[in-house]
Amino acid sequence: MPVLNAYAQLLAEGYLESRVGSGTVVSRSLPERTAKMQPTVQSKGLNHERRRVSKRCLHLASAQGFYRSRGVGPFTVSQMAFDHFPLAVWNSLVTRHTRSTQAKSLDYGDPMGLKVLRERIAEYLRIARGVRCDAQQIMIVSGSQQGLEVTTRVLLDPGDHVWMEEPGYRFARSVFACAGCNIVPVRVDAEGLNVAAGARRCAGARAVLVTPSHQYPLGVTMSASRRLQLLDWAESNGSWIIEDDYDSEYRYEGMPVTSLQGLDRNSRVVYIGTFSKVLFPSLRIGYVVIPEDLVERFVAARFAVDIAPGTFHQAVLADFIGEGHFARHIRRMRLIYADRRNTLIENLNHRFGPVVEMKGAEAGMHLSVVLNGISDREVSARGAQENLSLVPLSAFYLGRPAQQGFILGFGSTSVQQIPAAVHKLQMLMRARNVA
Ligand SMILES: Cc1ncc(COP(=O)(O)O)c(C=O)c1O
Repeated sequence: MPVLNAYAQLLAEGYLESRVGSGTVVSRSLPERTAKMQPTVQSKGLNHERRRVSKRCLHLASAQGFYRSRGVGPFTVSQMAFDHFPLAVWNSLVTRHTRSTQAKSLDYGDPMGLKVLRERIAEYLRIARGVRCDAQQIMIVSGSQQGLEVTTRVLLDPGDHVWMEEPGYRFARSVFACAGCNIVPVRVDAEGLNVAAGARRCAGARAVLVTPSHQYPLGVTMSASRRLQLLDWAESNGSWIIEDDYDSEYRYEGMPVTSLQGLDRNSRVVYIGTFSKVLFPSLRIGYVVIPEDLVERFVAARFAVDIAPGTFHQAVLADFIGEGHFARHIRRMRLIYADRRNTLIENLNHRFGPVVEMKGAEAGMHLSVVLNGISDREVSARGAQENLSLVPLSAFYLGRPAQQGFILGFGSTSVQQIPAAVHKLQMLMRARNVA
């Protein structure tokens, strides 16, 4: 039987031919090069001049460094305490949904996402973030990166000008660059994006991308007066505000800050959120809160990107939220991150004193330190050799001058690791005659 099965398989795949009366032979039509095929094509011999790619793609930020630096050591940014995630609960929900998968769940889902998940997110956003929305306006996307991609396709044309925070989120820049937009960097000061400076540089920009709850990377919270100025500018100019609210669940000081979208009276704000920070990034689930009149256009644009989101993990997440695990997880993690953040601040103060200027420690899972008088990229390269993940602040600027310093993530750095890591940082700085 195994021999007969092997013959049948080789016949089915065209490697053998059988002729009535003369038996089975190796197929004559088998091209010789298939038999000798190398597993990969050598790129050495290719004529690169004849292999044109788009001009836009030549200007995109490289993503290789991002992946390589993950988990390298203390201070990795955008990484959370994975070991504290309630995996047993999550796995039991996954099992429950695996067992209950039916034939009808195999079809494309709603392009806006699973209704029950959208209802739960809408409720959470109204209560926790002061977002004005109902489930009809919520589109589930594969992380906020895809949310921004779809939003850009709906709102912007090639050649349009877009304000971006300076310093700002590098991977958002790539989305606008891919869409052929012109990025206008607008400085961030102690109150957030400087609206007047933006208006002086390019009053007619079609859109602005902001992180008002916890500016990325500096961590500043946008002041109330700046929020109102930005909303006024957008309304009077017919421009759009894209609000990226990526990590506002964790706030350690002061009152919770509500969203910019919640202040908007003219439906000028597209609000984007994600589960990447508050749960885990491999989930790839985020959401866009769309102004009501644009929902149909967003659905059409979404079709052009990936038709609809996968349904399985949406259903798992809907139960995770609905059964109270989400709220419980946030409450638990807030205490853990607060501990890490306080330890980091204490150690930075102890080791560096007034030399270090800390920013953005009120919320989120990272803070930034400004350390002028050094080359942050040089220190960062030395840090990598010693397993210290020091993301250079200057890398987030488009223009000059760029402030020197580091973004220090404390999400995945335990309280026990912090003192030694800060000491290592001090040693690296001493070698540069600072601190
Ligand atoms: C400013 C900012 N926005 C959004 C995200 C999250 O992106 P996503 O939801 O696509 O994982 C990150 C992740 O690091 C971020 O730093």
